[in-house]
Amino acid sequence: MSEQKDICYLRSVEEPRGVFLPKEKARISPDDRGFYFADGVYEVIRTYFGRFFRLQEHLSRFKNSLAAVRIELPDFSRIPEIAWELLKQNKLEKRDAFIYIQVTRGCWQRNLLFPPKEIIPTLYISVTPIIPPEEEQRKGILAITVPDIRWQRCDIKSIGLLPSVLARQLAYEQNAQEAIFVRNGFLTEGTHTNLFVVKNGTVFTHPLNNHILPGITRSVVLELCRELNLPVSETAVSESELSQVEEVFVTSTTWEIMPVIKINQQTIGLDKPGRITLCLQKEFREYILKFSAPVARSGIV
Ligand code: PDD
Repeated sequence: MSEQKDICYLRSVEEPRGVFLPKEKARISPDDRGFYFADGVYEVIRTYFGRFFRLQEHLSRFKNSLAAVRIELPDFSRIPEIAWELLKQNKLEKRDAFIYIQVTRGCWQRNLLFPPKEIIPTLYISVTPIIPPEEEQRKGILAITVPDIRWQRCDIKSIGLLPSVLARQLAYEQNAQEAIFVRNGFLTEGTHTNLFVVKNGTVFTHPLNNHILPGITRSVVLELCRELNLPVSETAVSESELSQVEEVFVTSTTWEIMPVIKINQQTIGLDKPGRITLCLQKEFREYILKFSAPVARSGIV
């Protein structure tokens, strides 16, 4: 039996019409703006059982990121169709997977100024099967806090992720799975997750502004809280309040709802996933089964 190749999609200066090809054959020039300047944005969309989860929200956030960095992507509307084709080619059309989409400002000589108008952005899309981190979701993870040294536009899904790389590595070196950023004494979000804190029975999360990414999972969790009549407050919690909180969890497309049971080795609540976290996890699972959007078989959704 021939080995299943990892097929990706690339539209670049070398492949201006776009190609589906094995990832090992994909080539991007060193003159790509992503390589020189991290001059690009990305998006991560998930499928459940081959169905795109909250596709429109992801596309609209991606559109916002592109607009914020002034990249015009002529083939934006083709993204769902390309993603679906990739799922099929990688035999993931009935499985759980994530779709990674990256756009850079294209290929040009190294110069901070934008390239000329005729230079089209580079578009790269890949799909990867997801193995849900079920054990961690059940037991909870450990986290550390780190100073939020990121820029002032964390609402843009920029490919410039060096502060997150350093923070996540530091967490790993301290036997923790996530690092939570602290800006001016307040907890903002994780390196690749949004943060929720339960305090006196109220679910707190940082308000949407330039200091956090508007997470799609975050918005689903807030909807679920409201449906469950759980008190919610989009207000930042300070790091010093952590000693008095009952529960902490983080959310993302790949981790869904992940309980945090220790922060900087300090126990949160009862040192196990809390009641509200467990309840939201259960609701989230049920929600996924009920509401995942139909697959974009034609690319038109
Ligand atoms: N990360 N905050 C940051 C900084 C993120 O990078 C992410 C997503 C989130 C959660 O957003 P969502 O619920 O829409 O996934 C919050 C993706 C998964 C990643 O970079 O892999």
